[in-house]
Order: sequence, then structure tokens, then C-alpha cells
Amino acid sequence: MRLEEKVAIVTGASRGIGKAIAVGLAREGASVVLAARSEIARADGLAGTIHETATAIEELGGKVLPVKCDVTDEASVTAMVKTAMATFHRIDILVNNAGVAFFYPIAETPLKRWETVLKVNLTGAFLCARAVLPLMADQKSGSIINISSLAADERDGGTVPTGVAYAVAKAGLDRFTWGLAVEAGKHNIAVNCLKPKQPVDTEGMRFWTTDGERNGWASADKMVKCGVFLAAQDASGVTGTVATDEELSLWHGL
Ligand SMILES: NC(=O)c1ccc[n+]([C@@H]2O[C@H](COP(=O)([O-])OP(=O)(O)OC[C@H]3O[C@@H](n4cnc5c(N)ncnc54)[C@H](OP(=O)(O)O)[C@@H]3O)[C@@H](O)[C@H]2O)c1
Repeated sequence: MRLEEKVAIVTGASRGIGKAIAVGLAREGASVVLAARSEIARADGLAGTIHETATAIEELGGKVLPVKCDVTDEASVTAMVKTAMATFHRIDILVNNAGVAFFYPIAETPLKRWETVLKVNLTGAFLCARAVLPLMADQKSGSIINISSLAADERDGGTVPTGVAYAVAKAGLDRFTWGLAVEAGKHNIAVNCLKPKQPVDTEGMRFWTTDGERNGWASADKMVKCGVFLAAQDASGVTGTVATDEELSLWHGL
């Protein structure tokens, strides 16, 4: 097991890619903190809670701590990291996975939606990274993984149109990765950005699309493999990379 004795925080771990990566890290021996808002099933039918993910990890014999957390709320992030430290006493890995999209054109995007998309995808990553950086610096190692999207790169609206606010937030997350990798490198902390090459079949994606739009979707398996690989890095290994799961798999034989 590659991540024994390590402690990971995964944001947006109540469903989808975050849940899959959290389970994947636990399979490699990491203790995992699950940070998301859903503690009980949502009334609108969007499946997944932090407690369901915790049960899946416990069934594998893993150590897990579900903590209700809104990544857009500074106090909530601070409290989540404090609870994680009180339980596991160190943080080695942060996966900034929490994300939301708003699928409408700019002309139909209310200011509140624009702000929410930027806050969850970008400001949330900043708040979580800032909260764990001093702890990782004290430990003289760490790995931060930002989950981004090809929406940041595609200029034609993309294969799954996710809205410009989302693309802007993810482009910001890519740039945040490079900047943070430079700053955190001196403390032996790796910072990388991982994006799926193909749309990944998740509860969230299914909720917002129809059957006809789901051709060519992938499972989260490759994202999990790459997530585990990046989680094992520090600044002496792979850092400052913004890559798709396909690229990373090719480059490193995953
Ligand atoms: N699926 C794809 O094809 C695809 C492609 C490119 C990039 N991505 C990126 O991959 C990540 C996961 O995508 P997904 O498809 O798995 O999404 P998903 O199924 O919709 O799950 C999104 C997760 O983010 C959490 N979240 C949303 N707002 C939050 C907040 N304010 N605080 C804490 N957690 C919050 C949700 O938890 P709660 O609602 O419980 O808070 C949920 O666990 C996202 O960053 C997404 O942009 C996905």
C-alpha cells in the first residue's frame, strides 16, 4: 500500500469523482477526511452523502472521518481542518475536488450563480490549500491536487457545454496550481492539477444531462489511478503539472 500512515482530505467526497478518489486513497492505506455539505439524501434526488462514502471506506477496513464542510465558507474550512487534525494529527494530502457548473449562457447567468461557480471551484481550493499549507510546511512534505477541467482549455464550448463561468473558474484553478507549486515547493509540497480527458460518469453529470448526451463517458478509474499517483508525490517528484488523466497515465505508465 502506497499511502500507509498518510492522511488525506478530499473535498466534494459525497459523490462522483471525489468519492471515487477518496475510496482509492483509502485502498492504498490513507486515512481519509471526507469534506462536503451533504449529510442526508437531498430532496432533489441528487444522490450521495459523506456518510455513504464513509460506509464504503469502512467496509474496506479503512480509516475515515466525514466532516460537513462548505468550501466557500472560510470558518467551515477552518473548522474542518481543525477536526481533521484533532482526529488524525497530520495532513499529507489535499484533493481540491469540490465543483459546480452553471450550464447557461452568460446573458442568462445571474451574478449570484457566477459568484457561486467561482467560489466553489476556485476560492474553495484557495481556502482549503491555505488552511493546510502551514501544517504541511511543518511536516516538510505534502501533496495538493486540484481537480480541473478541459473546459478551461476548449474555446468552442467543449464536448459537454458547462458554461463560461465554470471554464473561467477552472482556468483560474490551473493558474493557481502553477503559482502555488512555486510557493509551496520550498516546503517540499507538490501541487498538481488533474483533469479528465473524457467526461466522467458521475451522479452530478447524470443529474444535469439526458441519456442522449452520455455517449463516450468514462468511469472514474483513470482519475483514481492518477489521483493516487499524485497523492504520493512531494516537491522532489512530480509538481507544477496541469495534465489530463490520459496524459499523466501515458507519461508515468499508470
Ligand atoms: N464528471 C466530469 O466529467 C468532470 C469533467 C471535468 C471536471 N470535473 C471536475 O471534477 C470534480 C468532481 O466532478 P463530479 O462530476 O464528480 O461532480 P458531482 O458528482 O456533481 O460532485 C460534486 C461534489 O462537489 C461537492 N460540492 C459542491 N459544492 C460544494 C461546496 N460548496 N462545499 C463542499 N463541497 C461541495 C458536492 O458535495 P455536496 O453537494 O454534498 O456539498 C459533490 O460531492 C469537479 O471539480 C468537476 O468540476 C468533472
